[in-house]
Amino acid sequence: MEQSIYSLLSQISGKKRKFNKLFIDNKGKEQLYKWLKSELAYTSNNIEGNTLTRKETRLVIEEDITSSSKPFVHYQEAVNHAKAFDYIIDILKSKTMITENVVLDMHKKLLSGIDDYNAGFYRNCPVRISGSRVILPNPVKVPDLMKDFFEKFDSIKGVEDIIKTHLDFVSIHPFSDGNGRCARLLMNLLLMKNGLCPIIIRPRDRKRYINSIEKAQLTGEIEDYMRFMLYRLNSSYTTIFDIFDTKNEIPQEKLMTIAKFAKEVGVPVSTIRYWVKVGKLKPTMYTESGYMMFSQEQINKVQRLNQK
Ligand SMILES: Nc1ncnc2c1ncn2[C@@H]1O[C@H](COP(=O)(O)OP(=O)(O)O)[C@@H](O)[C@H]1O
Ligand SMILES: [Mg+2]
Repeated sequence: MEQSIYSLLSQISGKKRKFNKLFIDNKGKEQLYKWLKSELAYTSNNIEGNTLTRKETRLVIEEDITSSSKPFVHYQEAVNHAKAFDYIIDILKSKTMITENVVLDMHKKLLSGIDDYNAGFYRNCPVRISGSRVILPNPVKVPDLMKDFFEKFDSIKGVEDIIKTHLDFVSIHPFSDGNGRCARLLMNLLLMKNGLCPIIIRPRDRKRYINSIEKAQLTGEIEDYMRFMLYRLNSSYTTIFDIFDTKNEIPQEKLMTIAKFAKEVGVPVSTIRYWVKVGKLKPTMYTESGYMMFSQEQINKVQRLNQK
């Protein structure tokens, strides 16, 4: 069952404090930024057809490691995204006003060395999105539309306004390429500036993401789009808590191997593996050699799963 916008908003507002508490100090923030730098490069580029895995993305960004099995430009896109991310973090830290020039610079970093002719400039030709019925604005209108876009910036208040700017931006589609990546970075900059968590749109969310944008553009109904983005925001909080909130960590000696866990629950090991595979169940942790470990708490969860 899909959650309502109201329910998502209330869950999100309940998570704000914990998020800000977790990342209150500089050390916490730097760790979060480092993780986000690779995670956003991986997910945002993947949506646009980049073939690097999460690991390959992290390796090229953090250690400059590439392999000849993937197109070089995909590595370049990862590094460029990381540079654009560093740039938005600088904007955040220095409390620089977010202006049109900031967005043009961001775009320049994204396409630098890939399409230098267009990097940092609005398009001067018509564009179409393949598979889409939406007619995008005529290029002569782009500068004025972007001017209006930035004029509305000062009045942006809450999370829904911020999410709406992403839709407005991609609907103007000001660049010949790089609109999606740029729009997501800008939205995440605005979210972080307002003390909120950035939105991670995973590769598997691509279809819903694209369809919700298309529907909003064709019908003017933005509810599905808003619900989808709020769902992703809510889940992004959860993902980040799972990784960074170590306070509630269960002591290692209280964890069970998959065999012991399966026995406690009373189902075959293969069932547990299947539940993990389809995402019904998440191991509490993986050991260094990749074995799944489970906690007592999850037994209750599995019993609930069995009842359904
Ligand atoms: N009707 C639409 N259908 C699909 N995507 C759309 C539509 N309108 C705008 N978009 C946006 O266009 C983006 C792709 O545009 P593009 O300029 O190629 O971005 P990038 O270069 O970052 O891939 C999508 O990620 C989406 O945000
Ligand atoms: Mg593209």
